[in-house]
Formats: sequence, C-alpha cells, structure tokens
Amino acid sequence: MKNGILALILGSLTFAALAESSQDDLVKRGEYLARAGDCVACHTSKGGAAFAGGLPMATPIGTIYSTNITPDPATGIGAYSYDDFQKAVRQGVAKNGDTLYPAMPYPSYAVVSDEDMKALYAYFMHGVAPVGQPKPGERHSLAAVDALAAGDLARDFCARRESVPA
Ligand code: HEC
Repeated sequence: MKNGILALILGSLTFAALAESSQDDLVKRGEYLARAGDCVACHTSKGGAAFAGGLPMATPIGTIYSTNITPDPATGIGAYSYDDFQKAVRQGVAKNGDTLYPAMPYPSYAVVSDEDMKALYAYFMHGVAPVGQPKPGERHSLAAVDALAAGDLARDFCARRESVPA
C-alpha cells in the first residue's frame, strides 16, 4: 500500500516535470516561429521594448501604429485567450471584434497550423516580458494619462533646467 502511494507520488512528479518541459519546448518553438514570422520588426518602435508596439506606419487611411503584443493585460495582449490570439493573427479580428488593418499581414499567417499557433501563443504569454505601453494616440485609462502627463512635466522641467545658462 505504502509503495503504491509512493509510486503514485513519483508518477505525478514525473508527469509534472514532463508537463513543464513540454511547456518550455512549446515556448522555445514559439520563439523560433516568432522570429521566422518577423513579428518583432513591426511590433517594436525605434529604440522601444521588443513587441511593445507603437511603430508608426503610413497607410492610405493615415498613420496607424502597431499593437503592443507583450502579455501586459492592460496595454498588451495579456487578456487574450488562445482563441482571441489566433483570430487576430490568422483572421485579423481583434478581441473587441474590430477588423485589423492589413498592415498586420494576417493573410500570410492564415496557413499557420494549430500546433504552431499554440506555440506562438505560449511564447507570447510566457516567453515575452510584459511591457505596459499604450498605443500612441489611443485613449488611456486616467491613471495612465496622469502617469504620462507627469513624465512630460518631468521632461519639460529637465529640458528647461538644461537650457538655463550657467
Ligand atoms: C508587416 C508588419 C507586421 C508584422 C510582420 C506582424 N504584425 Fe502584428 N500587427 C501589425 C499592425 C500594424 C497591427 C495593428 C493593426 C490595426 O491596428 O488594425 C498588428 C496587430 C497584431 C495583433 C492584434 C492585436 C489586437 O489589437 O488585437 C496581434 C495579436 C499581432 N499583430 C500579432 C502578430 C504576430 C504574432 C506576428 C508574427 C507572427 C505579427 N503580428 C507580425 C503589423 C505586423
């Protein structure tokens, strides 16, 4: 009986370890696919954090900005389920139902298999650090606006100090 319980415990430990390593493998595979799909090129602004978005793109309907696709729940895709994610990447439909502008090349990603899509999702949820960065020009929560305004004030203050002759 004791042995049976021990075997059960060992068995579940191995299972947990296996589950963990396959999750790691999935994240690694997702990282590879993200590199192959060059998601970083469009989803990173000049000098900005990887995948935090904000890269401006001129389009016939005006300038649009790439999205923050880090797992930050407020400004990124942290609240996206797998289904939300795959719909955005393969069909160009955002979580809120909006159609994405085809500057996001979803027609090219429509053929990505479920398996690869799951790996990509695992990578963006677990392999990418969350970065709180709202899209330029988007309405922010008041707290975010306040934080941005405070940053601007601080910058103005520093700029003014620098321009004061010694
Ligand atoms: C050629 C540039 C480009 C590439 C490459 C690209 N994206 Fe995008 N992506 C965009 C733009 C621009 C948007 C925003 C479109 C809009 O706002 O209508 C976007 C939007 C998204 C969204 C939707 C977020 C939301 O608001 O719902 C997701 C998810 C996404 N991209 C994931 C990816 C992934 C994953 C890859 C790589 C496999 C990738 N993108 C590659 C340009 C790109």
